[in-house]
Amino acid sequence: MSRITLTQFLIEQQREQKHIPADLRLLIEVVARAVKTISVYVGKGAVAGLLGNAGTDNVQGEAQKKLDVAANELLLQANEWGGHLAAMASEEMEMPHPIPHGYPKGGYLLVFDPLDGSSNIDVNISVGTIFSVLRRPEGVTETDESAFLQPGSEQVAAGYAIYGPSTMLVLTVGTGTHGFTLDREFGAWVLTHSNITIPADTKEFAINASRARFWEPPVKRYIDELLAGNDGPRGQDFNMRWVASMVADVHRILARGGIFMYPLDEKNRPNGGHLRLLYEANPMAFIVEQAGGAATTGREPVLSIKPNKLHQRVPVILGSKHEVERVARYHRES
Ligand code: F6P
Ligand code: MN
Repeated sequence: MSRITLTQFLIEQQREQKHIPADLRLLIEVVARAVKTISVYVGKGAVAGLLGNAGTDNVQGEAQKKLDVAANELLLQANEWGGHLAAMASEEMEMPHPIPHGYPKGGYLLVFDPLDGSSNIDVNISVGTIFSVLRRPEGVTETDESAFLQPGSEQVAAGYAIYGPSTMLVLTVGTGTHGFTLDREFGAWVLTHSNITIPADTKEFAINASRARFWEPPVKRYIDELLAGNDGPRGQDFNMRWVASMVADVHRILARGGIFMYPLDEKNRPNGGHLRLLYEANPMAFIVEQAGGAATTGREPVLSIKPNKLHQRVPVILGSKHEVERVARYHRES
């Protein structure tokens, strides 16, 4: 049986398409190896004694799960020694993580959410890992927080792993969005979904509707029209899904279309939104746009925002292009 593995796919991107240099290929392979290990721990569930809280809070004031901490450590350790990175940053760490003395340093920055949707771990629902790769800016020797504050349009690679019934790695290096499924027996990532395309139209939406009373008028208008279904201005019924794991909701949208929204609302306005720009919104926006979808805050494209801090939060509306454009238009009209 002839199968294209992640390694083959990346070598081809490097050799024939000249899209990625060798050290970026190595970086992606190291991340892919680390998420394979995370997948093993996630899959063991209660057997590994890794469910439940770690007893600590992260910089965002969220209670860390034992698996949040373990996944963060695995990603740091796997990526420290390879020589391809200048620094790493993570949802679980207040400040960037420098490459320890004694290891060679490279030209890339890696940012990640080690375990997205981690409130779902204890109830055995899909969680994931999200990552984004930036270049270390020219002339920067000491890699501090400011090196990471680049708009999402500067990303050279982004991806996520989803730990679901099967484990998948969805990746872009700017040449489309491609999905690999983990063959657990062989330990290989097999290209199973090349050139993923999100349908431009959809009848499915994802939003935490318990916050409806806090939404801004354009979001209220849009969702009210969807809820009115066949009898409303859209003249058709829509269906709703909300996993509360961004990876799982975005993965469904890549598979069959849909719109995902965590908009600005009265309650999250003081923070600028709910989801984090550098390791949630930006990588997902890159992946979705490379699959023909769109991503906006309602007011501007996610990928054009110049970040002002590492853990900055933003509103996120992404998925099927025509619906995302409609929500952006409702924002302009209001
Ligand atoms: O990482 C933040 C996150 O857990 C996302 O994975 C998810 O989409 C969202 O927050 C869930 O938010 P809520 O708790 O409001 O449903
Ligand atoms: Mn997350």
